[in-house]
Amino acid sequence: MKKTIHLVVPDKIGTIAPEIYGHFSEHIGGVFYDGLWVGKDSKIPNVNGFRKHIIDKMKQIHAPVLRWPGGCFAETYDWRDGIGENRPVRPNWWTEKDGRYEPNSVGTHEFVDLCEMIGAKPYFAVNVTSITPLHARDWMDYCLSPRGTTTLALEREKNGHPEPFDIPYWGIGNENWGGGGNMTPDYYALEYRRFATILKNIPSAPKDLIAGGANGGDYNWTRRLTDSMQGIRRILGGMSFHYYCGKAGDCVDFTAEQWYELLEKAYRMDELITRHWGVLQGYKMEKEMKLVIDEWGCWHPDGSGPSKGYNLFEQQSTMRDAVISAITLNIFNNQCDKIKMANVAQLVNNLHCLFLAGGENCIETPTFHVFDMFKTHQNGTAIKTVAENNDALDARVSVSASVKDGVMTVTLANCNCAEDAEVSLNLLGGSYAGKATVTTLKGDAMNSHNTFEAPNAVAPIEVSDVALDGAITVPAAGVVSVRVSIA
Ligand code: AHR
Repeated sequence: MKKTIHLVVPDKIGTIAPEIYGHFSEHIGGVFYDGLWVGKDSKIPNVNGFRKHIIDKMKQIHAPVLRWPGGCFAETYDWRDGIGENRPVRPNWWTEKDGRYEPNSVGTHEFVDLCEMIGAKPYFAVNVTSITPLHARDWMDYCLSPRGTTTLALEREKNGHPEPFDIPYWGIGNENWGGGGNMTPDYYALEYRRFATILKNIPSAPKDLIAGGANGGDYNWTRRLTDSMQGIRRILGGMSFHYYCGKAGDCVDFTAEQWYELLEKAYRMDELITRHWGVLQGYKMEKEMKLVIDEWGCWHPDGSGPSKGYNLFEQQSTMRDAVISAITLNIFNNQCDKIKMANVAQLVNNLHCLFLAGGENCIETPTFHVFDMFKTHQNGTAIKTVAENNDALDARVSVSASVKDGVMTVTLANCNCAEDAEVSLNLLGGSYAGKATVTTLKGDAMNSHNTFEAPNAVAPIEVSDVALDGAITVPAAGVVSVRVSIA
């Protein structure tokens, strides 16, 4: 398949917020115990109890933000359980089925420490279903009040952190249409108003609070919630929604037909962004707030990961997941003027993960490599791209491009699972000022993946000094990033 893609330098879309490349870690299945957290006394290399391998790799991809503690878990979480010595063990529906209870070894201090080691900002999800606004206010007070001021700031100091934590993002609830209380949009809107008003009351509260949003294409949720905020718009800083593109066949053992079925579902993200944004535009709120897609990814049937189903929602990650990661991140770049943040679900041993870990083993999935290949988009100016003959899914190459400090990043994914694409990159309104560095991610097959036994079966290959006057190859079921100076 041959294709020309035009890169229109003067046609600027907006700045790509680094937070679009965000992550999510919930107390669910094997994400923390023993994915991220191995404990300070573990033989597994760790820093302050967290797996060193993952810290190093997260630094490598410039992970900007990490959401915590859930997810649905957030709606039964009492922040007090994770503070100080002698922490209580609690029920946790999301691990109990595996015979595990919540030990609260990772609480506020440990999680913020992890973020600081990675260089990511924390994004806290506040429980609105089973605690009061005052209890949530106390968490914010504990975390954000200046040194030596409130009683809770003094308690934080006693627990080893005199200075306030840097937690810029706070979400109010999670999936309140479902696991977060089975609320109607109108009921949630009232809860949001209560919580946000009380939280905004404290001087150190962050500027923007993020509202718990819709399930996929439930535009009515966004509409009712936005409608309820008219007159008190200052308490709303971001509107979330979640979209899992779901499954098509087995995670690893799927057909070509199922390949296209799942990619089609992933492409739905584009329409969801446009239409949720349309609701905000309808209320003329687009200058005040943006969308936060704080859970996204594929959700395959359980059991394909190394724990063989012990860790809830743990799944393998193949080149299909990598191509869907690339499609989704390209959609985000191309719609970056509407998006404040996005968080792939989840980081380790769960759903669309970047790492699979257990005991001494820890490997990167193909999705990790996509995040690595796309990282130079962060803070870039996205520009318009036009791909010729790109309508049919099996003849489509997903693309986005951005420019930062005179260097252009173009990221491409071949939606065809069997045929390579030969792509000419035609620069309009600028010229190439040197040769390109081209990084390619592909496997032997569309379901290639990494395992503990073969951790580098899928790994990127970088080639420098590539002239862009000819076509570049985007392999079948493959992902490519191109970096080149432009004038
Ligand atoms: O990511 C796993 C679960 O999926 C989260 O807890 C919930 O928010 C979503 O339904």
